[in-house]
Amino acid sequence: MLQEIKQPISQAELRTRVFRGEILHFTQIPAINEFCAIARQICKLTLENTDPVNSHRAGSYDHWLKAIYQYQLAAQKEAQCKKAFSEALQNIGLKLDETFCDRFVFRVVPPQTEKSEGANSWLETHRDTWGAGVYQQINWWGPVYSYSAGNGIEFYPDHFKQPIANTSAEWRYEQFASARQVQSAELKPKFKPIPSVLEKPKGPIFKPTIKPGELLCFSAAHLHGSSTNVTNLTRFSYETRTVNCQDIQSGEKAPNVDNSSNAQLLKLFKNLSDNSPLTKTHFD
Ligand SMILES: [Fe+2]
Repeated sequence: MLQEIKQPISQAELRTRVFRGEILHFTQIPAINEFCAIARQICKLTLENTDPVNSHRAGSYDHWLKAIYQYQLAAQKEAQCKKAFSEALQNIGLKLDETFCDRFVFRVVPPQTEKSEGANSWLETHRDTWGAGVYQQINWWGPVYSYSAGNGIEFYPDHFKQPIANTSAEWRYEQFASARQVQSAELKPKFKPIPSVLEKPKGPIFKPTIKPGELLCFSAAHLHGSSTNVTNLTRFSYETRTVNCQDIQSGEKAPNVDNSSNAQLLKLFKNLSDNSPLTKTHFD
């Protein structure tokens, strides 16, 4: 299922493969090792040198949630992370001046779903396209520390082309943004960050395991989410999304099989070269 890629590839090949549902696995990107090393350094500092994947056992849950949030915030703001990731995209073959990138999410998923109250913790099954409404969106995901199939990311590949009942008709980004304002920053807002499924997905579940320093690249239209963490270890990963102008102009995009909303969240994406926002004009 995973398609390993060791060499840079063209934007045209990348989009063709991703938009038809392939899940690409980049294994030779030095800048991603650098990215992970910076994230681990921040993690070590904010978690006061406890072993991060076992840190949920040390001290109180509330204290741990606060420390995790400090790590997530610090890593997200760290300019060196953004620089290293931009370099990684260049290693892969993308051009920064035509690529728009969302913020980084440093996800932390402890064992036991009931202890996943953190701001960016366990995330239920979804398609990113339900929220963003951009079918040219490409997702990037990687681990900060090693993990296993029991606490990683999971996909329902059959649903790339098959609809599933979902809440995209009712979900509103503005409601999520308001909910985030009134909730303690280290906790999940009461309103879901993305539309969710209304029925059990069908078909096989794919749980890729990749190493820190490697990257998964897949269409935002893939049905995916956090695996229920059935291990004793906390999972540390990161994710972001990009939209490329060349891809928009090509006319190629992932299929929309079940998004009931026409809303587009373009303002989330900023140009990696000059920080300008993605706008409707890029789609004209
Ligand atoms: Fe997602």
